[in-house]
Amino acid sequence: MLKRGEEMQRDLWTSLLLVWITCVPYSSMAPLNNQSQSLQMASAMIPRNRPSEGQRILSRAKRGWVWNQMFVLEEFSGPDPILVGRLHTDLDVGTKNIKYVLAGEGAGTIFAISERTGDIHAMKRLDREEKAEYTLTAQVIDRDTNQPLEPPSEFIIKVQDINDNPPQFIEGPYKGSVPEMSQVGTSVTRVTATDADDPVYGNSARLVYSILEGQPYFSIDQTTAIIRVALAGMDREMREEYLVVIQAKDMGGHMGGLSGTTTVTVTLTDINDNPPKFSKGSYEFTIAEDLGIGKPGGRVKANDRDIGENAKSTYSIIGGDERDVFEIVTDAQTQEGILRLKKPLDFESKKSYNLTVVATNIRADSITGGPYMDQATVKIIVEDADEPPVFTKFTYLFDVHENAATNTVIGAVAARDQDAPHSQVRYFIDRHTDLERQFNINVDDGKITLAKPLDRETDMWHNITVTAAEVRNHSQISRAIVAIKVLDINDNAPEFATEYEAFLCENGKPGQVIQTISAVDKDNPSQGHTFHYRLEMLNNPNFTIKNNLDNSISVLAKHDSFRRQKQETYLLPIVVTDNGEPPMSSTNTLTIRVCGCSRDGFVQSCNVEAFVLPIGLSMGALIAILACVILLLGRSFQHLGKRMKNQTFELRHKNEENIIRYDDEGGGEEDTEAFDIATLQNPDGINGYLPRKDIKPDLQFMPRQGQHCCLKGGGGAFFNLLRET
Ligand SMILES: *[C@@H]1O[C@H](CO)[C@@H](O)[C@H](O)[C@H]1NC(C)=O
Ligand SMILES: *[C@@H]1O[C@H](CO)[C@@H](O)[C@H](O)[C@H]1NC(C)=O
Repeated sequence: MLKRGEEMQRDLWTSLLLVWITCVPYSSMAPLNNQSQSLQMASAMIPRNRPSEGQRILSRAKRGWVWNQMFVLEEFSGPDPILVGRLHTDLDVGTKNIKYVLAGEGAGTIFAISERTGDIHAMKRLDREEKAEYTLTAQVIDRDTNQPLEPPSEFIIKVQDINDNPPQFIEGPYKGSVPEMSQVGTSVTRVTATDADDPVYGNSARLVYSILEGQPYFSIDQTTAIIRVALAGMDREMREEYLVVIQAKDMGGHMGGLSGTTTVTVTLTDINDNPPKFSKGSYEFTIAEDLGIGKPGGRVKANDRDIGENAKSTYSIIGGDERDVFEIVTDAQTQEGILRLKKPLDFESKKSYNLTVVATNIRADSITGGPYMDQATVKIIVEDADEPPVFTKFTYLFDVHENAATNTVIGAVAARDQDAPHSQVRYFIDRHTDLERQFNINVDDGKITLAKPLDRETDMWHNITVTAAEVRNHSQISRAIVAIKVLDINDNAPEFATEYEAFLCENGKPGQVIQTISAVDKDNPSQGHTFHYRLEMLNNPNFTIKNNLDNSISVLAKHDSFRRQKQETYLLPIVVTDNGEPPMSSTNTLTIRVCGCSRDGFVQSCNVEAFVLPIGLSMGALIAILACVILLLGRSFQHLGKRMKNQTFELRHKNEENIIRYDDEGGGEEDTEAFDIATLQNPDGINGYLPRKDIKPDLQFMPRQGQHCCLKGGGGAFFNLLRET
């Protein structure tokens, strides 16, 4: 500690106004309490009420001395105003009539100055936590003249802390948690207390923490206030919650300090330190053999003292289920193991099971890391149930030839009552699967017979359902499918694949292919169809056939002298035979029409009428032609009449291979073609040109001047054509 008096004396102040600082720490300055010692210096204000604290406070760290500060203890409430300090000036030599004046914060209200002596007194009780310092100015004036003798000087009065505030846990009460079985020293939580007293000065805010309740389980670090586990092996399953009371005491925990407390509720969290444990070492369930698949047959439970995930187990069957009949699943709600059927039980073949069931914690054991498990045995007793009869097959597959006689036995089904008193079984056909009543079944022996003739080509399959019912208990029934396949016999003759429309070119060469013919057959022989064709008439003079070696034939013309005028249509009966056993055959008639064709063999006209007007003329053109004809007839009737008699025209086309002969024998009722308009119009025609009726008009040839009569456009072309050909 500084000896304030000596320091001051050493510093001889040149300023006119000396403001003496009395940084007076308690009783260290006790001797100065005697005001007579202050002499011409500022007097010290000494707390009189805490002499006992003096010794300890002497050990505090040295503080910087500030010359223009004064100190006053807070909360001082003596009978008289407390002296804060004294102002003194060198001018005050006792003779001069000077006066001390105080201004600034609290001047005149909180702080009063003695005009003569410069003593400053605190008139009120001060609270550091409310206002820690006051800034004031002091001045010396001449009492007579009221003139300032010095400039004003500023100084501070600091309110000195006393320990008047207890520590407080603002955030309390606290909650903390720590896993059970934690090691000693494991941190749980940390608490914090605050103290409103001056943390810089004195020990009023120096806190020390201690534990009032909660030992021996927990401890607290007296300075950091961290709460730690103090006892090893705390088990949540024994006790889960602890109430810890913490005290914070100021004055460094010494006697006389103020204190505050808080509570910390510490919860132990679960670790997986308990294994599952079956409620019983062995269970026994009776399960009816007709228990449905997936239906629960019994429940087992492995208890676990842990909680949450640590208490969860899965169940499994590790022995006694060689037939793989059972499964065990965990009920998420109850944590029970539910025993269910994966396959149907069969009392007749196995009447009991001894299963070994294991429950395993889904989480590893927190201490050893290994899986926690428990084992139990489960005895299953299978109870006999009245079961429906059982067919020897789910589906029966029979076949029968389509020509089988009625009452032919197609096959037999069989079902058996598996229960101990084997009941007799009766068989029925489910009639809605055999609406035609095509089949019968023998009620006693299950033989299926044919009731009506079959036709494979109508229905190839008859899939019917057969029911077997126990005589003893009609409600015990079961069903089986009987698929009856109708086997083919050769009962259908082949026939033409379609209705063929055949054409024959008048100008075609012998051997021209008129039509390719194939056949179909409704039967379905396993080796496939092979058809044989022949003409019904042996040595037909006009047509022949050629085998294409692909189940089809071609019909060929035998000569080239087919003429529409002679015969327009030929009917050619063809016999088709299949390769069935016995073979079936049919006669199909091919209609062949004789037609006019283009040079390259395209059919152009098959009508006899078209022979007259082979070229598409409009009605208007025809009328025009007729008009022309009448006109011309009028003029040259006689001349023409003569010419038309007994003439033979012979037209030879440049293309030598395609010769069309036209012999006009002149007249006759049927010789409608003989009257050819060309002969009227084109005298050239008489000289060896006749129109070709089998080609289209070629419009590139224009009619010759003066030779057309009354036709324009198409009509002209028509005549031109007649000429050119
Ligand atoms: C009948 O059953 C057979 C064999 O199962 C099957 O191939 C056929 O498609 C079935 N026919 C009908 C019409 O259901
Ligand atoms: C062959 O054709 C001629 C005419 O060209 C006809 O008179 C005869 O009846 C035909 N013969 C047969 C068998 O069709």
